[in-house]
Amino acid sequence: MIHQASTTAPVNIATLKYWGKRDPALNLPTNNSISVTLSQDDLRTLTTASCSPDFTQDELWLNGKQEDVSGKRLVACFRELRALRHKMEDSDSSLPKLADQKLKIVSENNFPTAAGLASSAAGFAALIRAVANLYELQETPEQLSIVARQGSGSACRSLYGGYVAWEMGTESDGSDSRAVQIATADHWPEMRAAILVVSADKKDTSSTTGMQVTVHTSPLFKERVTTVVPERFAQMKKSILDRDFPTFAELTMRDSNQFHATCLDSYPPIFYLNDVSRASIRVVEAINKAAGATIAAYTFDAGPNCVIYYEDKNEELVLGALKAILGRVEGWEKHQSVDAKKIDV
Ligand code: DP6
Repeated sequence: MIHQASTTAPVNIATLKYWGKRDPALNLPTNNSISVTLSQDDLRTLTTASCSPDFTQDELWLNGKQEDVSGKRLVACFRELRALRHKMEDSDSSLPKLADQKLKIVSENNFPTAAGLASSAAGFAALIRAVANLYELQETPEQLSIVARQGSGSACRSLYGGYVAWEMGTESDGSDSRAVQIATADHWPEMRAAILVVSADKKDTSSTTGMQVTVHTSPLFKERVTTVVPERFAQMKKSILDRDFPTFAELTMRDSNQFHATCLDSYPPIFYLNDVSRASIRVVEAINKAAGATIAAYTFDAGPNCVIYYEDKNEELVLGALKAILGRVEGWEKHQSVDAKKIDV
């Protein structure tokens, strides 16, 4: 007999970036981070988890291709989820014995994988949720975020909609390094995000590799995690709770800039932005200057694609200017269908 459960998980885009691990094995970060979860209408991972006494090995299929299941992160996630199911089965002998069966995970992204569009976040979040549903686990999203974090750090934030904080924690076993919701999407219904897909290619330097080069070589990074982020974390949370767009936008842009500055300050340097990314920054600056107020914010993860946050009332102005100025950029036309996604739970 096969047991099966399916679920989807959303992409989240950090506005205060996670970059650096204090414990790479447990995926414990060097700083707190904040993100906004995007609606699942356009960007999401759909995952089905199944288990059966007839399966002979664990399997993972991503976009139709079979993936290696021996990676430490996946092994850690499977181990933790099975341990939670074992606990349930031990306390209730009427439950089917699923924890010892092999798992088959089938996952589909509807956006480019590993192009700096947070695919690992949605991917691991969907995997954790799908297996948690399959096992009928009673754990809260906060408890599951501790498992998701071990798959990919940013994945812990994709277990919630709206505005999410990943609190780095202080325990050496990672038991307090988990995601919490700052506010639901309904709290700020005017918020919108648009994605300018500059390139759908796989990024040169993976986040996992890149961040450890930065941790070990960048003097600017030390300043960032000790002085800048703690203050920015409190300010950004407040700007979200106050729905203060100009403050939220400025902090978001400053944080993206500083994250990419630490990449450049790494040795050897890491480049994620390209000419189109830099042109998008200039366009957002021009939009804000012309409006006489900060009505749009850009942010870039570990790739060249630009995510722009703005409020609904300014949509025509912001997207109109972007299209007018960047309209000739290769890739923009093709990807217009992914712009202006509403942010939703
Ligand atoms: C720039 O979560 O992909 O997007 O934990 O090694 O899997 P691992 O890294 P990952 O890093 C994301 C980095 C970022 C910033 C962010 O999402 O906070």
